[in-house]
Amino acid sequence: MTSDDASAGWDAVAERFAALRSDVGTDIVLRWSRQLPRGGAVLDIGCGTGVPIGACLAAQGFALFGIDPAPKMIAAFRANVPEAAAACEPAETSRFFDRRFDGVVAIGLLFLLPEAAQTAVIGRAGRVLPPGGRFLFSAPRERCDWEDSLTGRRSRSLGEAEYDALLAAAGLKMVRCRRDTGGNDYFDAVARGT
Ligand SMILES: C[S@@+](CC[C@H](N)C(=O)[O-])C[C@H]1O[C@@H](n2cnc3c(N)ncnc32)[C@H](O)[C@@H]1O
Repeated sequence: MTSDDASAGWDAVAERFAALRSDVGTDIVLRWSRQLPRGGAVLDIGCGTGVPIGACLAAQGFALFGIDPAPKMIAAFRANVPEAAAACEPAETSRFFDRRFDGVVAIGLLFLLPEAAQTAVIGRAGRVLPPGGRFLFSAPRERCDWEDSLTGRRSRSLGEAEYDALLAAAGLKMVRCRRDTGGNDYFDAVARGT
């Protein structure tokens, strides 16, 4: 791992992450996806290997776009979800934000980023969604920080109140929060009309 590692340590742990990643939370993403137009375009930010989230969205017939700055993650994503478009880029600068999407997902991502980058990514998600478009992301409801067990890096949830405020500033409204069987929280937000 080098200091210019845009994946913040995730490329180095890609194989271990793939071996440990369970299906937990897939049911929540699937349920969320039923609110989207059939065959719509979905952006998966921090897509990892594409298993299970990207593969399950592609199997539902969505046009999937995955971005992840870890070369090993994106190589696995391309192999696991060959029908998807993929870019090895960080969310903060990815060119995939140049187009519109019906839905955006960011599972296990936001809290890995510094606070300013979390704000920037929420803003970018808001700008690619039309009114009624949906943004689903996971993060603990409570404001907290902890050491990631795989990368050893600090993770930080800004907490529900702060995410609520950042979503509002990005033109999004928090609709609900769901918890999966592993105790992870998912925020479901909708893009407001202008
Ligand atoms: C915990 S994994 C989650 C992967 C996938 N979303 C899942 O649910 O299996 C976090 C992912 O975020 C990626 N990541 C790290 N920094 C990122 C950034 N700045 N922009 C986009 N993705 C990033 C990592 O490379 C890693 O693949």
